[in-house]
Amino acid sequence: MPAAKPVCHILNGPNLNLLGEREPDIYGRETLADIEAACRARTDAFGWDLQFRQTNGEGELVGFVQDARAAAALIINPAAYTHTSIALRDALAAVAAVKIELHLSNVHAREPFRRNSYVSPVVHGVICGFGSKGYVLALDAARALAEARASR
Ligand code: DQA
Repeated sequence: MPAAKPVCHILNGPNLNLLGEREPDIYGRETLADIEAACRARTDAFGWDLQFRQTNGEGELVGFVQDARAAAALIINPAAYTHTSIALRDALAAVAAVKIELHLSNVHAREPFRRNSYVSPVVHGVICGFGSKGYVLALDAARALAEARASR
């Protein structure tokens, strides 16, 4: 039997379903479907499986994180919950996967309240400020970390 493919979950928080029409000067004109297609092309090239999900609900996002417990990698753009959610932080702390926090915008160059992240202390790394390209950068980083782990 062929070995099971590594699985990567990419999770998107509130209002990211509106990408393309939502504040395009900050978040760009690509839709979440465009971003998913680019991610799928990348994971297909790696030979990985991809679960790509979005929710506006904090509790549902916590559930999505729990669903990624057995994954090789979890990439999350928690959107506004980054700055507010201890529940999300605790859920991420319980996941052993390689974890990357991702933001389209450079949150450090915006309003002061965006500089605090409850999520950053419990992930391996953070990518922000590269727009939609950040998703593919995060996949490349997640793969490198997952492969380094597997060869240990
Ligand atoms: C965001 C940044 C957050 O501060 C904001 O609440 C978002 C999107 C980003 O991708 O740049 O909704 O996570």
